[in-house]
Amino acid sequence: MKSTVTTIAKITPELVEHLHSVRDYIRFGTSRFNEAKLYFGHGNDNAWDDALALVLHALHLGRDGREEILDARLTPGEGRAILALFIRRIEGRMPVPYLTGEAWFAGLKFTVDERVLIPRSPIAELIEAGFSPWLADEPTAILDLCTGGGCIGIGCAYAFPAAEVVLSDISADALVVAGENIEQHELASRVTAVESDLFESIDQRFDLIVSNPPYVDAADYGAMPAEYHCEPALALESGEDGLDFTRRLLREAPTYLNDGGVLVVEVGNSAAHLEKAFPDVPFTWLEFERGGYGVFVLTQAELVEHGAIFAE
Ligand SMILES: C[S@@+](CC[C@H](N)C(=O)[O-])C[C@H]1O[C@@H](n2cnc3c(N)ncnc32)[C@H](O)[C@@H]1O
Repeated sequence: MKSTVTTIAKITPELVEHLHSVRDYIRFGTSRFNEAKLYFGHGNDNAWDDALALVLHALHLGRDGREEILDARLTPGEGRAILALFIRRIEGRMPVPYLTGEAWFAGLKFTVDERVLIPRSPIAELIEAGFSPWLADEPTAILDLCTGGGCIGIGCAYAFPAAEVVLSDISADALVVAGENIEQHELASRVTAVESDLFESIDQRFDLIVSNPPYVDAADYGAMPAEYHCEPALALESGEDGLDFTRRLLREAPTYLNDGGVLVVEVGNSAAHLEKAFPDVPFTWLEFERGGYGVFVLTQAELVEHGAIFAE
């Protein structure tokens, strides 16, 4: 039977004559997003929350809209602004944080755009827990390697108020966004951004190196929903088995860690490849209350002990 439901292509400005309240727009967006079979993996996990976030953003109501506004009526201009966002979400498969320009990580607000990955690393939980129990002493020098928009390093700066933090990335574009976030969080006195291919432009040692590098393998990258292809490929892809970057990191990290230092790295789905490639290395895999996996810890001593294996 032929469907009579409004199709995605038919979101037109004239719809403002039929949609009146905040509730109407959220409901309409939810229906269209479900109909378009969008993927929800960038902060929200369902169509209603995506529609709600776009409606609140367009109406300048902040992200914690109150229930009392659900029946408030909109002006035609407000309605058109919301519909324009819905069209971009559907036709461009654009994740909501790129449409609103903001994302939340470890309880902090970050500016994001298509130059950086949208923050979602489970490392947020480690930051909130002060990396307990992995650090013997409070770190005074921290490197967020592969920083993107700076969320991990800036989160660490809040967790460790005495620490100097370096944010590094190979992408000059990403570092512009990281710089904006350093300013917004008023951390320029102790957080700096450095353009560097891995450790190439880094000339100091750290107590903690934390990294969410690119780690998606070729098969997974090809199969990812369109929303992920709005993010920079440089932030996701890392060779056939997803470990091109991590292999280099494991080889070079000991030189940049202080005695007693710790390396924390997310490799997600590529954890299985890593275990297979280095069966004799005692990776400690972390567990998370809010979900996520594939994050390991190695101490400086363990990296040195197994250095010959990483050098092969
Ligand atoms: C998965 S994103 C992580 C962004 C951010 N840390 C987060 O957790 O949301 C990986 C980042 O690594 C950067 N990158 C890729 N190859 C790199 C390299 N060889 N050296 C330094 N950074 C690199 C990318 O530009 C991207 O910003």
